[in-house]
Amino acid sequence: MSTVELLDRDLILSQMDSFARKQVTSLIVNASLDSTNSALQRLPVKQQSGTAIMAELQTEGRGRRGRQWYSPKGGNLYLSLGWCFNKPLSELGCLPLVVALSTATALTRSGLQRHLIKWPNDLMLDGKKLCGCLVEMQGDARGPCHACLGVGINIQMSSSEADSAIDQPWTDLQTWLPDCSRNRLAALLLEELITQLSLFSEKGFSPFKSHWQRMDGLKGQQVDIAAGQGTLSGTVSGINDNGALILDTGVETLSLHSGEVSIIPACSE
Ligand code: BTN
Repeated sequence: MSTVELLDRDLILSQMDSFARKQVTSLIVNASLDSTNSALQRLPVKQQSGTAIMAELQTEGRGRRGRQWYSPKGGNLYLSLGWCFNKPLSELGCLPLVVALSTATALTRSGLQRHLIKWPNDLMLDGKKLCGCLVEMQGDARGPCHACLGVGINIQMSSSEADSAIDQPWTDLQTWLPDCSRNRLAALLLEELITQLSLFSEKGFSPFKSHWQRMDGLKGQQVDIAAGQGTLSGTVSGINDNGALILDTGVETLSLHSGEVSIIPACSE
């Protein structure tokens, strides 16, 4: 069993560029928390923006759609960053996509290749989940809006335990990048989040569109989407300007703002 590189606050800060470091008002690294998102949201709202919280393990890690996020001690990354947007909620529909793109770039800069995004913000490699993002909003719908951006990256997992705890195919970073440094990855992730959130705040989603198209793991795929009470089937053609998924059912073209996507494997004759 390889040794675990513990998270080190000062080392993380020292590896970030000065622009990003200046935006981090507080960086907290804890041995154990219920959930880094919950810990951030317990802070007074005014202290949340620019605060980053990480933990070595989460006892109640939260995923999208009310799921648990498997968060053992032993070398994964659990990170939450608070960010305030002086915009109405209606202009932040693409925020989960920006968080996924930032995470994808941090992974690319760490040396990873071939990872793709499964809308809205799962990072996948070879059809297996590597990373998930949980974006939670507080504040007035007319703005300002306070976002809690949570990212969980599987880095070093024990197969037997993870197989029984996770109900979908998963992978971890050590499988692809055995020498990846957790502190370096944490620094890159914070740097990318801060740089890309600042750009998104200023210019919206248009500067991100071409990157999304390169990272889009669903375009052209046949999918089933559990949305509301039922399941929709069709072919994904991309996203619209609000970050909604465009699905061609063969009868109509739909824009979906939420839903759980399953890719239907292509039949091999
Ligand atoms: C998902 O794919 O369902 C989203 C998973 C998000 C997990 C991260 S880990 C850090 C942060 N704290 C949490 O409790 N959840 C997010």
